Amino acid sequence: MKYTIAVIPGDGIGPEVTDQAKKALDAVAEAYDHIFLYKEAQMGACAIEASGDPLPEETVKICRAADAILFGAIGDPKYDNNPSAKVRPEQGLFRLRKELDLYCNVRPVKAYDNLISNSPLKREVVKGTDFVIFRELTGGIYFGKKELSADKKEAFDISSYTVDQISRITHLAFKSAQERNKKVTLIDKSNVLETSRLWRKTVTEIAKEYKNVTLEYLYVDHAAMKLILDPKQFDVILTENLFGDIISDGASAICGTIGLLASSSIGDENALFEPIHGAYPEAAGKNYANPLAAILAVAMLLKYLGLHEEADAVERAVEKSITLGITTKDIKRKTQFSASTSKVGDFIADYITNQDDSNMNFTNIHMGQSTII
Ligand code: IPM
Ligand code: MG
Repeated sequence: MKYTIAVIPGDGIGPEVTDQAKKALDAVAEAYDHIFLYKEAQMGACAIEASGDPLPEETVKICRAADAILFGAIGDPKYDNNPSAKVRPEQGLFRLRKELDLYCNVRPVKAYDNLISNSPLKREVVKGTDFVIFRELTGGIYFGKKELSADKKEAFDISSYTVDQISRITHLAFKSAQERNKKVTLIDKSNVLETSRLWRKTVTEIAKEYKNVTLEYLYVDHAAMKLILDPKQFDVILTENLFGDIISDGASAICGTIGLLASSSIGDENALFEPIHGAYPEAAGKNYANPLAAILAVAMLLKYLGLHEEADAVERAVEKSITLGITTKDIKRKTQFSASTSKVGDFIADYITNQDDSNMNFTNIHMGQSTII
């Protein structure tokens, strides 16, 4: 089959990890006889520099027309400490989420046995962790009215949600739970917030349609604690935009690295896939950033296109790289060499095309050289 993929490398380490993700896709194309046609587009700080606009119209056009969107990272420190900057790179991502109505952000969190020692938590707490966060992405405080008073002494951001906005992601979360361990945990602050009370009422109603799925409720503060104390209790977490943003960065630490977490942002017409780690500007261009999250974003993209066997092959290659320790320095174990961003990408691509340990040159691998005989 032939697919058009919009590729937005973005800022910081975005371009170098996206290059590795494309290598994985190219290997899938070769092994399974597909064609992926890449259409490159700009968003973020690089787009501001090129055209003054963090989301040029051309980018939206390319994304709308594509079968899926692969995105690297966004942000540049030069905008971070300048609250009066007129345009900010992140506005590009918000506008893209809104224009394509990418309302459902899915963030899987899974502990890899070989990386548990990287976790700040005890082995017995982490082992077996496997849950997925469904974060609403186009509503709440991110998109409500914002204002700074004329005297600049008061500011507000309004959070609002409609029943429709809550319902559509709730159905997706429950459908996912049906395929998993049949439990949804709604995270809110309904003891304080009106929007949270609307979430609780709406989700409780919808839950009645999914009789084989258990619904639990947690206040967000309590959830932050439970995620650290007992992450294994979660299966599908459902939450609003801001809580999802915070909870998912917290959750990323459980498994020992943010460098392995990918996410998808799904709408009814389009879907975008990205690593969740962000632009990591200190590492940009240095060829040591971990490309595995971007590569796992490719696996999510393939599943979205219905290419499940292909997605499994990508996930197997990632697991193999972790088992063999062909990883960047952020997740290497003491005794191992660390591989560069592009070396990890080469290994993953080689493994997808060969998928057979017997072709591997283990001596070379452990010398940090390449992989397939
Ligand atoms: C995320 C990021 C974004 C967000 C930033 C880059 C604006 O943190 O996707 O989680 O807050 O949504
Ligand atoms: Mg975030």
